[in-house]
Amino acid sequence: MRITVAGSIHMDFYINLPRLPVPGETVLGKGFTMLPGGKGANQAVGCARLGAYTYMVSRVGKDFMGKELLKNLRENGVDTRYIRVDEETHTGVAFILLDESSGENMIAVAPGTDYRVSVEDVDNSMKAIEESDVLLLQLEIPVETVYYAAKKAWEKGVKVVLNPAPARELPSDIYRYLYALTPNRVEASLLSGVEVKTIDDAVKAGRELVSRGVEYVVITLGREGSLIVSRDMAKHVPAFKVKAVDTTGAGDAFNAALAVAIAEARDMVEACRIANAAAAIQITRLGAQSGLPSREELEEFLAKHSS
Ligand code: RIB
Repeated sequence: MRITVAGSIHMDFYINLPRLPVPGETVLGKGFTMLPGGKGANQAVGCARLGAYTYMVSRVGKDFMGKELLKNLRENGVDTRYIRVDEETHTGVAFILLDESSGENMIAVAPGTDYRVSVEDVDNSMKAIEESDVLLLQLEIPVETVYYAAKKAWEKGVKVVLNPAPARELPSDIYRYLYALTPNRVEASLLSGVEVKTIDDAVKAGRELVSRGVEYVVITLGREGSLIVSRDMAKHVPAFKVKAVDTTGAGDAFNAALAVAIAEARDMVEACRIANAAAAIQITRLGAQSGLPSREELEEFLAKHSS
């Protein structure tokens, strides 16, 4: 099982707060931590922990963060040969305000080297992409690069999973290159033009996106789990109930586990149940990568919660 992840790498700067500030307000925090993050890196680590041979295509800056983050990826078993050290700008960073009582957050990103991940980087990593079962993408690198990678992978018969986060407009013809598109409510609303509040709205949004050519639309619904929409079905897969410590990276845990399950050719409903479990485990720990489960942990959790 092989997966290539093309995406962002960040250092996450966390401040723990009793509650999130409103615009113009200062709230005194209780603690500060620097942890590895970035949607691309989180998803790559998530895939590797679940046993997939994982390549990452990306860039980091020539700074202490880039060095630390490369080391972290290697320690987690990610193949980093397609990550370039770029001297032009800084490694991507995210400032995360975490509400300690609810586990909810506010995130601001300065992309730095993320925005320099280019179509040439995709060309240089085609050997990895071609030998992968799945190419996993997000939207923290240029959309032009995402589009190019999706098209090239599709031409080689590789299944493409696009997690359209953070929410951005997409080229209208990208959908036909996608095996799965995995928006949350906000992203599904932006992309489909259907405001997603209820599960019925999500079905409508999913149908609109499927009509554009993607095989499966999987809408993540937080506490309500996930919804799969394809040409011939719409199926709601409920979430597992856990106490959230930090919801950062829940979507990344979900996408990593989904990509691994797709690479293993599992049925989509089972794949979403597995992905819901990975997200549930992830949010019980602080940090976007600390809670990403190993395969053993995930299997144990699923066995414990099987009814
Ligand atoms: O999905 C969570 C990630 O979003 C964080 O790790 C942060 O770096 C931002 O990119």
